[in-house]
Order: sequence, then structure tokens, then C-alpha cells
Amino acid sequence: MGIKLENISYTYHDSGSLKTHLGLEDVDLHIEEGKFVAVLGVSGSGKSTLMQHFNGILLPTDGKIRILDFHYRAGEKATQIQELRKRVGLLFQFPEHQMFEETVGKDIAFGPRNFGATEEEAHSAARHAVEQLGLDASILELSPFQLSSGQLRKAAIATVMVMDPDIYVLDEPTASLDQISREEVMKLLRSLCTNEGRTIVVVSHRLEEVLPYADEFVIMGEGRVKFHGDAAELMNNLPLITESGMIVPSSLRFMHDFSERFQTSFPNGHYQHQVQDIAEYVSKVLGGGRRA
Ligand SMILES: Nc1ncnc2c1ncn2[C@@H]1O[C@H](COP(=O)(O)OP(=O)(O)OP(=O)(O)O)[C@@H](O)[C@H]1O
Ligand SMILES: [Mg+2]
Repeated sequence: MGIKLENISYTYHDSGSLKTHLGLEDVDLHIEEGKFVAVLGVSGSGKSTLMQHFNGILLPTDGKIRILDFHYRAGEKATQIQELRKRVGLLFQFPEHQMFEETVGKDIAFGPRNFGATEEEAHSAARHAVEQLGLDASILELSPFQLSSGQLRKAAIATVMVMDPDIYVLDEPTASLDQISREEVMKLLRSLCTNEGRTIVVVSHRLEEVLPYADEFVIMGEGRVKFHGDAAELMNNLPLITESGMIVPSSLRFMHDFSERFQTSFPNGHYQHQVQDIAEYVSKVLGGGRRA
């Protein structure tokens, strides 16, 4: 099932004027169920606009979209948005948009309560979620305004986790987190994907951060999908990474140079798969390639 976008465009209309702004243009994208997908690209390339289509915050102005078994088509009235949001959890790029209750605990428990959980069930789910994220449960009693930006970001991730969605859509979940917390969050997401079959879509500005964890990479540019593929395909598109405003991680450069060198030695294609395997293995040891 997963997510399938066909010829999606999205145009922003400035309120109070006739001005329009293209957010997405002619996007075709298929994210398979159970995959961990990283979405990258420079500022303004359309990442957040894309993410907000995945749980119906934005609906396309052109094209059609299928998310799990929910279907939406531009110009048609959208139905079952509440049901969709129960199964697709979205973390906004700016977590303060997500926290509006007087305590963090109430904010995190809001979703489950809204969908019929008892007070006690919702509170215990909230506690479990913050603890999984390495936060102390005492944070539940604080006001969101009392949190540091990193704590606030983790608490916002907890508002998504507590709903146990089938698809996690997280817009820069690691922004404002320290190095250790970033890795903890990425590992937790990888484990939700590998061990519990959840689909994970994560926006990041840093390829080196997601490279060890994601199965697939989407690079956005000017509202379009410029690339969609795995680490091996990415390795063969190094100039695109630089053109897209990112630094090529040393592990990916290593994979590329290693494969190229062996391809020169064995130009008839023999050993190509073995070389690819060895390159991926060594780059994994160096900190790139997929980590379980
Ligand atoms: N509310 C809005 N009204 C008008 N234009 C918008 C609005 N939000 C985004 N845009 C425009 O749509 C395009 C895509 O923006 P989007 O926020 O999706 O980019 P992004 O890749 O998430 O950027 P960033 O990395 O800075 O978060 C940009 O040109 C932006 O100016
Ligand atoms: Mg954004």
C-alpha cells in the first residue's frame, strides 16, 4: 500500500492578493509500505509541502494521491481525513505548532484521548513514549514553554509516537537535537521500521545523518523530485548531491571510488555485485550504508 503520488502539483495562494506560489510541481512518487525514506533538499525545495500532503493537511491542486487505502484527487471533496490522520502521524517542522496544552503530558495524551482512550490509558501511553525517547517522565508535568528546544522537539515526536501510526512523517525531527539525541532518534525510527513494520518518512538537511538508517532517498529541488533511489544509486549520482546543496558523506564517496576502481579493473561487469556488497559493507563500518 504505502503512499503513491501521481502528477501532484500544489500552488500556494497568498491571502489578500492574487499572487500564487508553486510549492510542488508534477511530483510522481511511490513510497512502499515498511520502508524508511529520507527526504532531502535545499530550503524552499518543497519538502514540507510534500510532507503535509501525506496526512491531508494539504490537498493537491493537481493530480491524485493514495495513502494506505485513502484516495484523494485534486478538485474533489476529501473524505475520511480524521481516519487518515489516525494512521499517518505528522511531526511539523516547527514543534511549537504542535504543542498547545498547558502541560506536555496533556499535549502528548491529547491524540489518544481524542481517539477514545481513557485518561489512564492516554497518560500511560504518554509516559511510555517520552521514556522511549530518553526523556524523564517528570517532563510530562511541565509547560511546553519550560522545555529547551531539543526537549520540545522530542516531546513533539512523542505526540506522534503515542498514536502508534502505520506511517510516521517527520519534518526535520532532529533539528535542534544534540549529536547523541539525533542518533537515538534515528535508531528508534529504524527499529520501528525493522521490528514493527512501520513506514518512516523523514526530512533532513544532512545526508550523513540519514545515510546509515534510510532504505531510500528522495532529493527535492524547485518543487520537483530530482532523485529517488537507494544508497547504491545515490553513490552513482554524487554531483547531484552537491548540486542539491549537500555535502557528500565520506562513506558514500568511498563506496563510489571503491566501485569505480574495481569496475576499471574488471570492465566486463564480472564481480560487480560482489564489489557493491563489499563497498556497502566497508562503508557501513565507516558509518554509512544501512544500519539495523
Ligand atoms: N504558506 C506559504 N505561502 C506561500 N508560499 C509558501 C508557503 N509555504 C511554502 N511556500 C513556498 O513553497 C515552496 C516550498 O516550500 P517548503 O516549505 O515546502 O520548502 P522546504 O523544502 O520545506 O524548505 P525548508 O528546508 O526551509 O523547510 C517555497 O518556494 C516556499 O516559499
Ligand atoms: Mg520545510
